[in-house]
Amino acid sequence: MKQVYLQTFGCQMNVADTDRMELLLFHSGYRRTPRQEEADLILVNTCSIREKAEHKIMSLLGSFKPLKKTNPDLMLGLTGCLAQQEGDRLVKKFPWLDFVLGPDTVERIATAIDRVKTRSRPLVWTEFDTEKDYSIPALDGPRAPGPSAFVNIIKGCDKFCSFCIVPLTRGREKSREAEEIYAEARQLVSRGAREIILLGQNVNAYGKRDLRRPTAFHELLYGVAAIPGVERLRFTTSHPRDFTPPTVRAYRDLGVLANHLHLPVQCGGDRVLQAMRRGYTVAEYLRLVDDLKSAVPDIALSTDIIVGFPGETDAEFRETLRLMERVGYASSYAFAYSPRPGTPAQDLPDTVPDAVKKERLQAVLELQKRLTAQNAGKYVGGEVRVLIEGRGGRGDADFKGRNEHYWMVHVGAAADTLKPGDFVTVEVQEAAGHVLKGVANCENRQAGVGRSQSIPNS
Ligand code: 5AD
Ligand code: SF4
Repeated sequence: MKQVYLQTFGCQMNVADTDRMELLLFHSGYRRTPRQEEADLILVNTCSIREKAEHKIMSLLGSFKPLKKTNPDLMLGLTGCLAQQEGDRLVKKFPWLDFVLGPDTVERIATAIDRVKTRSRPLVWTEFDTEKDYSIPALDGPRAPGPSAFVNIIKGCDKFCSFCIVPLTRGREKSREAEEIYAEARQLVSRGAREIILLGQNVNAYGKRDLRRPTAFHELLYGVAAIPGVERLRFTTSHPRDFTPPTVRAYRDLGVLANHLHLPVQCGGDRVLQAMRRGYTVAEYLRLVDDLKSAVPDIALSTDIIVGFPGETDAEFRETLRLMERVGYASSYAFAYSPRPGTPAQDLPDTVPDAVKKERLQAVLELQKRLTAQNAGKYVGGEVRVLIEGRGGRGDADFKGRNEHYWMVHVGAAADTLKPGDFVTVEVQEAAGHVLKGVANCENRQAGVGRSQSIPNS
């Protein structure tokens, strides 16, 4: 068998795409190696969401040149968003690349490699697929899934937020038929998965117009939750504008739907939100948050924040800090605005100086540290229910996993008492950042059905 070395940058969508390519390549005679030097094929799945990600990948590509010199048969390929964005320019800049494929060509990876073998010039495929349906055919793989498995439900994005490259690199929204999603979830649980994470750039747009059998996103949630063996259900990422009241109700109705939601707000002022073309006001976002909190009082919320969008004033930035306090996020991912080629915001005047962006980013990080510590206080001294993902963790933890609110939990337990896929009750002794630490109460190991966790002291 030939060997492929795979490296992934960027979001969970890219992680899922890399897994899929690994599976497709397995069926054409490749197995994955963790060692670059023994690879017949090196495949880098790239991200271009911010300039920093782009720079990292560009310098990595430079470092591949000597590898090709020592092994002229080595095949080098680039996939993902940067591949889509740059296309031909990449093979001009890095002539040692054999192929460049956009994210919409994942299913054709094996065909692309066959094609490359018969060509003298690099192959560049960046066209979007023209199929009416978005389908990911079932395939057996060499490895069982982990306890927590992704299922793609929608690809692309039609939101065109003014700062974002994704609609340009991943193309238009297309949903998968619900039956195909259920079949994949059933197969995953039959092979050992216990948590299903429904995945898409904007999952709330699922089924809006493109399905043969129309299914709304909340209906899909009820459908997956009903599959025997699905013990925990999550979804990511959500767009506030498409979030419907029946989806809020699903949290109340579905025991297996984890009480955590990643709900990117981006910023806390109406003028900037409008310039970002987010399609909601601060008041509308907060109304949704309040509806969620009244339906599910212990819901944990996380978000994405961009600081230093063109024209953002100090006063507008302080509105973002105020909104973070008001919502009380358990965690957040904060970014300095980075202009992206071809996006509407790229040409906006009034850029915020880098030093100011840095200061604002620092202020967001500090506030989040305080909010995370406040949230963590609700757990220390109480119990959480953890799905064990594997061994280790920072420090002397024996196992790690997540609770339903998506906190990483480091678990002390004797070596042979737990295994990946177990649900266990953990007595939380301390918290560090967004990590809880505690000991397993193995008396209480559960086959795990439904939601049993409550937050102590809240
Ligand atoms: N600059 C900075 N952050 C960005 N994001 C998307 N585009 C940009 C950009 N041009 C952030 C958003 C999004 C997350 C995935 O990345 O916060 O929600
Ligand atoms: Fe980008 Fe906006 Fe689509 Fe999210 S919703 S992927 S930020 S365009």
